Amino acid sequence: MSDHEARRAAPVERRVAAIEAAFDARGMSPGAAIAAFERLVDEEWVPRNGARLVAKAWTDAAFRARLLADGRTAAAEMGFSMPPHHRHLVVLENTPAVQNVICCTLCSCTAFSIIGLPPDWYKDLEYRSRVVRESRTVLREMGLELPPEVEIRVWDTTADTRYMVLPVQPPETIGWSEDRLVDIVTRDGMIGVARV
Ligand SMILES: [Fe+2]
Repeated sequence: MSDHEARRAAPVERRVAAIEAAFDARGMSPGAAIAAFERLVDEEWVPRNGARLVAKAWTDAAFRARLLADGRTAAAEMGFSMPPHHRHLVVLENTPAVQNVICCTLCSCTAFSIIGLPPDWYKDLEYRSRVVRESRTVLREMGLELPPEVEIRVWDTTADTRYMVLPVQPPETIGWSEDRLVDIVTRDGMIGVARV
């Protein structure tokens, strides 16, 4: 949006009110659809889904291999679906020497049914533009200081290819149950801007 357009655009509340008024004027009631969408966002599209995939991958080598080979099918195996246009879920395996980071330089795409809707900073032009050019600096600013020998790989999401980072399992948690591990996996860890 240009500065000129930014000055002209009404605040979001007024734009929403105008859309609602347009629906009302036509006798349409979007309330049920909005409530259904809110339920999806709050209860279904939550980072805990991805956390469960990570915890299973950490404790089940065969599942880990399937998750890395075809994330979408492995997620479906655990009962997690993705919209049809998310044709691929590519799972990026972190190692002590490699840190994968995801972004969407165009807008805000994520594998939202798996790792949750994107946080506000992920949608900011600041993150989208800088993480690809000065990823080490951006990660440091976000609290992740990586030794210079750690390679950073930045992956730009597209409409049909979505990503999830598979964090390195903290050594002190080796041997924990899958249920216990789920609780330590964070959304930021699956975006790649934090380590677990
Ligand atoms: Fe996007």
